[in-house]
Amino acid sequence: MMAKAGLKVGVLISGRGTNLQALIDACAKPDFPAKIVLVVSNVADAHGLKRATAAGIPTAFIDHKTYRTREHFDAAIDSALRASGVEFVCLAGFMRILSGQFVERWRNRLINIHPSLLPAFKGLDTHQRAIDAGVTITGCTVHFVRPAMDDGPIIVQAAVPVLPGDDADRLAARILESEHVIYPLALRLVAEGRARVEGEKTVLKNGAASAESLVNPAPD
Ligand code: GRF
Repeated sequence: MMAKAGLKVGVLISGRGTNLQALIDACAKPDFPAKIVLVVSNVADAHGLKRATAAGIPTAFIDHKTYRTREHFDAAIDSALRASGVEFVCLAGFMRILSGQFVERWRNRLINIHPSLLPAFKGLDTHQRAIDAGVTITGCTVHFVRPAMDDGPIIVQAAVPVLPGDDADRLAARILESEHVIYPLALRLVAEGRARVEGEKTVLKNGAASAESLVNPAPD
């Protein structure tokens, strides 16, 4: 069998890896323009590592606790990625802040998914904070990574309603379904060279802009 061509992607995870799974499933489609060549976790028993192994993808466990500084830990990740020929990196629930050095090294070749409509609700505990703020629409965002947390040119967003009776878990589950749609979509756009950063904004070539709006609560 001929090896599949396409952008060689490394995915960094720390946990259950449902977004990783969405990317694995997308990459398994014959016309998808990317291929995951390495999954790195900083947590030994992250379930995402099992998902990668099940899909035949090489994995690496790199324990941040064994490195003296963030920069040393990031350098170990960088070496692992390069040794596998990685050209592009996806953060998928990776719970360590990356050093400015690493982020700059992978500038415009490093993307992240965050469960809010950025720039609202950066950081942790986003779902509860959205509920506490009383927003009726929140969502998720895939963006190019910059040194500041949850910052950088936005590639794709999905708007998701907050429904009566939502708690953080119910809202998180609803948003997660959209995460699994937008992460493969964003990776496709960058892998096909259709999403480029210009002047710190993402410009889409031949992008299918959506003209639909979501109103919540629904109009009478
Ligand atoms: C997702 O909600 C993602 O947006 C956030 O971390 C969570 C990771 O979930 N960055 P999973 O490991 O992909 O299931």
